[in-house]
Amino acid sequence: MSFSSFKLLDSSKPILVFGRDGQVGKALQVYLKNLKIPAVFLGRDECDFASEDAIIQMLNRYQPQVIINAAAYTNVDKAESERQLAFAVNAKAPQVMAHYITNVVHGVLLHYSTDYVFADTKTTAYIETDSVGPADQLCIYGQSKLAGEQAIEEVFNLTYNSGHDGHHDTFSRYFILRTSWAYGDGDNFIRTMLHLAGERDQLKVVADQVGAPTSAEWLAEVGIQIARSRVESGIYHVVPDGETSWHGLAVFAIETAATVCKGIELKSKNILPIPAADYVLPAKRPYNSRLSNIKLKKALSQIIFAGQYPKWQEQVEAYVKEYVKASLKN
Ligand SMILES: NC(=O)c1ccc[n+]([C@@H]2O[C@H](COP(=O)([O-])OP(=O)(O)OC[C@H]3O[C@@H](n4cnc5c(N)ncnc54)[C@H](OP(=O)(O)O)[C@@H]3O)[C@@H](O)[C@H]2O)c1
Repeated sequence: MSFSSFKLLDSSKPILVFGRDGQVGKALQVYLKNLKIPAVFLGRDECDFASEDAIIQMLNRYQPQVIINAAAYTNVDKAESERQLAFAVNAKAPQVMAHYITNVVHGVLLHYSTDYVFADTKTTAYIETDSVGPADQLCIYGQSKLAGEQAIEEVFNLTYNSGHDGHHDTFSRYFILRTSWAYGDGDNFIRTMLHLAGERDQLKVVADQVGAPTSAEWLAEVGIQIARSRVESGIYHVVPDGETSWHGLAVFAIETAATVCKGIELKSKNILPIPAADYVLPAKRPYNSRLSNIKLKKALSQIIFAGQYPKWQEQVEAYVKEYVKASLKN
C-alpha cells in the first residue's frame, strides 16, 4: 500500500472543522494555518449539535470533502444527568457526518474518541481490535462516545458492503482517533494541578488510574497527516509512548513548572498518592486507560515522525514550560 500524500483531495473544497473552541479544535486552527490549508471552523454558536438539522445545514452549506469532528460533549460528570444531550452530540452528530461523507467522492471523516470506551477488561494496553465496553460498565460519556464510533462504522459498512453500486476507488474513508488524557489550550488536569500548586501546601492525587497524557497539538498534527495520507480507514489509538498515573503526571508537571517559575513551592513529597476510591465522582472512570500505539506507529512511519515518536514526558515538559512562561507574562 502506498502512503504518499493523498492527491485525490479536491483543494477547491474547504476542510470543515467542528469544535473550533475546544482544545483539539484550537490546535487544529494553529496547525492548519501554519500549513496554509484552507479550512472553515465552526463553534457551538454556529452549529449546535443538539440539533441534527443544524449539522445538515452546515454540511450542505460548505459541502466539505474532509470533515474533522473535534467537538464533543466532554463534561464526563455532567453527562451522567444529561444523557440525551451527550448522545446527541457524541453519537448522533458523527452519524450524520458519516452519512454525508459516504455520499462524497474520496471524502474523509476524521473523528476523535476516547479510552473511556473500554471498561477495565484488561490490565495491559488495549489494541484497536479489543472488545469495547461492555456498555453497561461504562459511564454515560463513554457509552455515548462508543455509540458515536459504532454509528460511523455502521454507516460505512452499510454503504460500502451492501450492494453499493459505486466504484471502490471513489470510496470515502473514516478515521476514529482514540486518545487519552488530552491537554491543550483549555481547562485540563495539568493546568488545574499547576494552579493548585501555587495555592496549596499539600495535594492528594489519584495514583491507581493509569494512562498516557496526550498533547492536543500533536493530536491535531497526527489527525491532519492521516487525513491527507492514504492510510486505511479505521480506528487508531493516538497516544505518545509511556504511561503514568494522575499522581505521576501531577508530580512531573509541578516539578517541571518549578524549574521555570520560582513561585511554585510545593514539593513532590507533599503531593500525596491516593486511591480513586477516596476521590468519588459522579461518573465512573477507567483504571486502565492504556492504549497501544503500535498500529498508529506503523501508519505514521510511512508518513511522518520516522524514528522520533514522542514520549509523554517530552510533550508535557514542553507544554508546561510554555504555559508557565505565558502565564508569567500576563
Ligand atoms: N480532553 C480529554 O481528556 C480527552 C480524552 C480522550 C478523548 N478526548 C476526545 O478528544 C476530542 C476533543 O476533546 P477536547 O479536549 O478538545 O474537548 P473540549 O476542549 O471539551 O472541546 C469540545 C468542544 O466541543 C464543543 N461542543 C460541546 N457541546 C457541543 C454542542 N452541543 N454542539 C457543538 N459543539 C459542542 C465545545 O463547545 P464550547 O466551547 O461551546 O463548550 C468545545 O469547543 C473529543 O472527541 C473528546 O471526546 C478528549
